[in-house]
Amino acid sequence: MKKIVTVITSLTLLAALGGCKPSASGWKSYSGDKTIEQRVDSVLKLMTLEEKIGQMAQFSCNWDVTGPIMADDFEPYLRKGLVGSIFNAYTVDGVRKLQEMALAESRLKIPVLFGYDVIHGFRTIFPMPLAEASSWDLELMRKSAAIAAEEASAEGIHWTFAPMVDIARDARWGRVMEGAGEDPYLGSLIAKARVEGFQGGKDWQSLQDLHTVLACCKHFAAYGAAESGRDYNNAELSLNTLMNYYMPPYKAAHEAGVATYMASFNEIGGVPSTASKFLFTDLLRNDWGFKGFVVTDYTGINELVPHGVAADEKEAGELAANAGIDMDMTGAVFSKYLKQSVEEGKVSEETINNAVRRILEMKFIIGLFDDPYRYLDKEREKNTIMKPEFLQAARETAARSIVLLKNEKSFFPITKDKSLTVALIGPMVKDKVNQNGEWAGKGNREQSVSLYEGLTEKYAGTNVKFVYAQGCDLTTDNRDGFAEALATARRADVVLAVMGEDFNWSGEAASRSDIRLPGAQQELLKELKKTGKPVGVVLMNGRPLDLSWEDANLDAIMEAWYLGTMSGHGLADVIAGDYNPSGRLTMSFPRNVGQLPIYYNHKNTGRPLPADNPKMDYKSSYLDVANTPLYPFGYGLSYTTFQISNMQMDKSSMGKGDKVTVTAEVKNTGTVDGETVVQLYIRDLVASVTRPVKELKGFTKVALKAGESKKVSFTVTEAELSFYDIDLKYTAEPGNFELWVAADAADETNQASLVYTAK
Ligand code: BGC
Repeated sequence: MKKIVTVITSLTLLAALGGCKPSASGWKSYSGDKTIEQRVDSVLKLMTLEEKIGQMAQFSCNWDVTGPIMADDFEPYLRKGLVGSIFNAYTVDGVRKLQEMALAESRLKIPVLFGYDVIHGFRTIFPMPLAEASSWDLELMRKSAAIAAEEASAEGIHWTFAPMVDIARDARWGRVMEGAGEDPYLGSLIAKARVEGFQGGKDWQSLQDLHTVLACCKHFAAYGAAESGRDYNNAELSLNTLMNYYMPPYKAAHEAGVATYMASFNEIGGVPSTASKFLFTDLLRNDWGFKGFVVTDYTGINELVPHGVAADEKEAGELAANAGIDMDMTGAVFSKYLKQSVEEGKVSEETINNAVRRILEMKFIIGLFDDPYRYLDKEREKNTIMKPEFLQAARETAARSIVLLKNEKSFFPITKDKSLTVALIGPMVKDKVNQNGEWAGKGNREQSVSLYEGLTEKYAGTNVKFVYAQGCDLTTDNRDGFAEALATARRADVVLAVMGEDFNWSGEAASRSDIRLPGAQQELLKELKKTGKPVGVVLMNGRPLDLSWEDANLDAIMEAWYLGTMSGHGLADVIAGDYNPSGRLTMSFPRNVGQLPIYYNHKNTGRPLPADNPKMDYKSSYLDVANTPLYPFGYGLSYTTFQISNMQMDKSSMGKGDKVTVTAEVKNTGTVDGETVVQLYIRDLVASVTRPVKELKGFTKVALKAGESKKVSFTVTEAELSFYDIDLKYTAEPGNFELWVAADAADETNQASLVYTAK
């Protein structure tokens, strides 16, 4: 980071001036390709001001609805060549119809860019992103994004509004399902993997491949810090927290070559993102050097009025354009008022020119000026959608995303050689519609494989038999089905409850203040427990839940999230032990909602609670619950056990430019083969600003045969020790560090010390 101090000054200034300073920055292209630059400028020269502003407008065609429906009909704008982009259109025929409409009557015949929320799959739906993150398998995530891009582009889509890389620490917020969890280090690697998956690589040339899509890093910035977990709420956070915890994944997306960014709905320090010159001009463009374009989130510009920083929509448009916003998603503010603002000198024509250049450049890069219909091939569409290898990849990803949270008396796996009757109880047993989660692309909910279907196929011809009762529904307190469920449980040897949240209860506009299992589900579990049978539960939900009761009372808990199209098969693979679960949490599970926000990389405070005296008075703690989460970040079980030992460092002191190699041994101490995630954490003991009690700085996923040992190795350099200091300068300060090679964020078995001399 160059001069973050100027950035702070800008932030203060921005608040004072309402962010209304016209930008004077010259255009630097995303590709750096001279021919493309010339072609962009040659088109720009032909355009009227109205046509230029038209490029800055995006409309939803309302085939799908992802926000408030806007009254404006986009067709008149489209026919006149006054639309830069359309979203929520799909299929070769559908996109062709709209592209033809745009090209037929418009003066300059500039092709339209088609966008869509391809979040975790398009037709073949993969596990929701937080689930997929639990695999800690970057290649898997890169591949699922690539498959999503392949399917979407085969239906004419050029641009996805993903990845969502917002750090999330509060499980009340429904959108935690869309991200990678609470950690900036892991979140950054996942951001990079997903951008590269969607865009086909880091170089702009990969975007010319018809099987890739432009990615959009969202929601810039700190949308995940919404106060009280209430969606769209204010994000109240310091610059230190913003830069050290929330920014890294957004920056990683830029370093991976992401083509576009989306502004977030929230404000930071009194300035809504959509009006933040600090975010889009000072930081993103001037400091990081981002050269793609920026789109609002939905009606972000219109919302500057209720936010209270613009008196009307015209002024809102001026704030946004001058902050560095290039495209107005559905709000129609630019379309209606920006021309007048330019004529009045409130926004410079050069600001408009630069925004238009950035948008036109992407259209040139992906070849739309050469052939606006180049993605529209019906044969390819037919042969691409839900190919068997995509379904197979989705099944493997599903299995690898599952996190086993508790497993007493070897409840799982239920191997196929067993002879027993399993009572399947609960509203999710036969469910298909919830499996894709909220952001389900164009995945057909009825096509998702239910757990019942998966188990029936898996155990066909074996002596594992199933009996079933739904027992209750997902949301209401209705107990009418309890009696049948209990009678069914009594006929069985074991009870496997399958429960969770309605898919609409997480995702956008889906915050909860009580994150226990909803409706009568927990009551049903209590009754099932009274039967005296072993009871395990499989959970399908979009956020960390409060599972304190389940943890204390049930034999086994398997967190399955929403696993997508192949949900039932992926789960059946794990339940039967054909895949040994290896998922590890990337968000802490609280003991109760009162602990939120909870995250492993918290500060120590001036009055930390001593681990050996958890009741000590006048310490930072609760009277009624422990400080620790129920399940920590990085936690997850397998059907085998692992032991980490013999942590060593090749030196205990390092200077600038040095590196230290940290090694440890990991052994599969159980009787079946499996995989585990070995994690490296550090703590900077004394610094110019307080540092977290632990920070993830490396991990490796290791496959081990039963009884096998392997050596794992991590490298620590200045980069792993660096952070934004008291002057918001990115640096590593000299001093003492603690390091752990661990199974999860709470594991302190293997610890060592390091001195950094900074010389
Ligand atoms: C969401 C974005 C999404 C957009 C378009 C908004 O409401 O916040 O994440 O990309 O809608 O569907």
